[in-house]
Amino acid sequence: PSTPQDKQPIIVDIHTHMYPPSYIKLLQSRDTIPLIRSFPGQPDPRLVLLPSEVPLLSNPSPSQPPGRPLTDAYTSLDAKIAFMDKHNISISVLSLANPWLEFLSSSPDPNSAVQPAIQINAEFEYWCQKHPGRLYFFGCLPLHPEETVQVFVAAQTLKRTLRHCRGVIVGTNGLGKGLDDPDMLVVFGQLQELDLPVFLHPHYGLPNEVFGERAEKGEYGHVLSLGLGFPMETTVAVARMYLAGVFDKYPNLKVILAHGGGTLPFLAGRIESCVRHDAYLYAKEKESGKKRRSIWEVLKSQIYLDAVVYSEVGLKAAIAASGEGGVERVMFGTDHPFFPPLEEGEEEWGSVAMNKEAAEKALGEGSKEAEMVLGGNAVEILRLGEDCLP
Ligand code: URA
Ligand code: ZN
Repeated sequence: PSTPQDKQPIIVDIHTHMYPPSYIKLLQSRDTIPLIRSFPGQPDPRLVLLPSEVPLLSNPSPSQPPGRPLTDAYTSLDAKIAFMDKHNISISVLSLANPWLEFLSSSPDPNSAVQPAIQINAEFEYWCQKHPGRLYFFGCLPLHPEETVQVFVAAQTLKRTLRHCRGVIVGTNGLGKGLDDPDMLVVFGQLQELDLPVFLHPHYGLPNEVFGERAEKGEYGHVLSLGLGFPMETTVAVARMYLAGVFDKYPNLKVILAHGGGTLPFLAGRIESCVRHDAYLYAKEKESGKKRRSIWEVLKSQIYLDAVVYSEVGLKAAIAASGEGGVERVMFGTDHPFFPPLEEGEEEWGSVAMNKEAAEKALGEGSKEAEMVLGGNAVEILRLGEDCLP
């Protein structure tokens, strides 16, 4: 069934980042990554985030310094709204871009991330209030190994006082030991109780050695770390959560995976087979008498995937991996402001068009299913248009 010509389907972008003012200040004050630094001859300051860019920091090439230009697309609300208007995006669910406050989790001061998180979340809420009905956000948590109490307080504040918050963005590091860390269980329990979905997003990629010397010299740009490192990182993080039994312990916890779940849709069968044929896990399950839910069951009940995969092939896999009715669990995103057009004056973002086209090709242009993925699912799942305060 197609929509009448006069009714434009709504497009919702659930994967779209910004850095609010207090975060920019924080990055400007740093001299290890993540940082913002100006380089001679470069019009914009540069945002240096990735471990793979560190070797280039000590000896920057004048024509190709590390990082990416920090344009106003990262910092200006007007620029975000203009981008949304340009691409017919009705609603955006903003999130702080990587690496959030993870670099503070190794600070000796357990309170170091608290004020920054409070401030950042307040800045997002303020932005959302300026454009009623068009903006929501995923908040950030002050994850510090010494201070889970602060995490609880922050999560409650997000839920109880910040009307536009629809979940939290979390990296793969957790409290410093990953998301299968037993100490993360209380955090996930709290997020389940507050019904705050986790938006799980990568940042670290894979170790530089995996990509070799030529990548280290910058010969391949960011392709290997963003194209492969990011999705593998997400896949490993969610597989570790699964193996640690997080989903069984908190069966109402909702996790939205960035970039279509990394490689999870393609590898779920292999993961499942490896679990089933693992002698150690087999013996453990027998001994405990606890029945494990398959990765497929978790995929169709607790995991949601964004549609930031740039091709109908990956998108079809994401939908198929999400089980019967899987088309209800996949949500459009852009990853703005990353992957901008490189040609001067190009206003339409090719990266956005690729994701839209993927949905249209996989599901049929104008079909009900395409509309669900492009916007309808997000409205339902994230209760957009509702005031969330109890
Ligand atoms: N690169 C990043 O560092 N983050 C994103 O979200 C996308 C690309
Ligand atoms: Zn992103």
